[in-house]
Amino acid sequence: MKQCERHKHSARGEKTGLRLCGNPLDEIAEDHMREREVCALLERLAEGQSLEAAEIEQMRDFLQLQLPHHIADEDIDLFPMMLKRCDPEDEIEKGIDRLQSDHGHALEEAAAVLALLQRSRPLGAGVSQAEIGQIKAFVSHSRRHLIFENAVILPIARVRLGKRDLRTMKRHMLERRGLDPDLESGKC
Ligand SMILES: [Fe+2]
Ligand SMILES: [Fe+2]
Repeated sequence: MKQCERHKHSARGEKTGLRLCGNPLDEIAEDHMREREVCALLERLAEGQSLEAAEIEQMRDFLQLQLPHHIADEDIDLFPMMLKRCDPEDEIEKGIDRLQSDHGHALEEAAAVLALLQRSRPLGAGVSQAEIGQIKAFVSHSRRHLIFENAVILPIARVRLGKRDLRTMKRHMLERRGLDPDLESGKC
């Protein structure tokens, strides 16, 4: 199966997170959907429900690999491009400042949740109150962050960023994930 076909066949929640053949803003939106799924799983964990091994793996994979890449996509490519292309009337500077500050906290919170998920003992009933607090904080902050990015940032980016910006962003996203942009673009 070609790489791009494999991307198309990757449902949300699957492990790869490498569906990078289309508009990179669509890929960022897909990452947001994956993050929402992980938040829903974490919420179930915080409620004391037991989760399947595949669901634990989905959360680990997202927090360990996909989230750091996603945050780099935004901090290194999306946000600087938007600051360059947007008009003052878009009023995005303060919003982007807040999102970048959120990213620093998100990586710290994700590392704490990941450490909890990587313990060898069974998860679910064994989660302490302090850990439940850590999980809930991560979920709450993530959801607030996602609402702003989906409702404000991505719609403005779709209007303001040009084809060259999107090509550059996509190239960087592929490189960040260890894929060869020249090879990948030929398969799309
Ligand atoms: Fe995001
Ligand atoms: Fe973000």
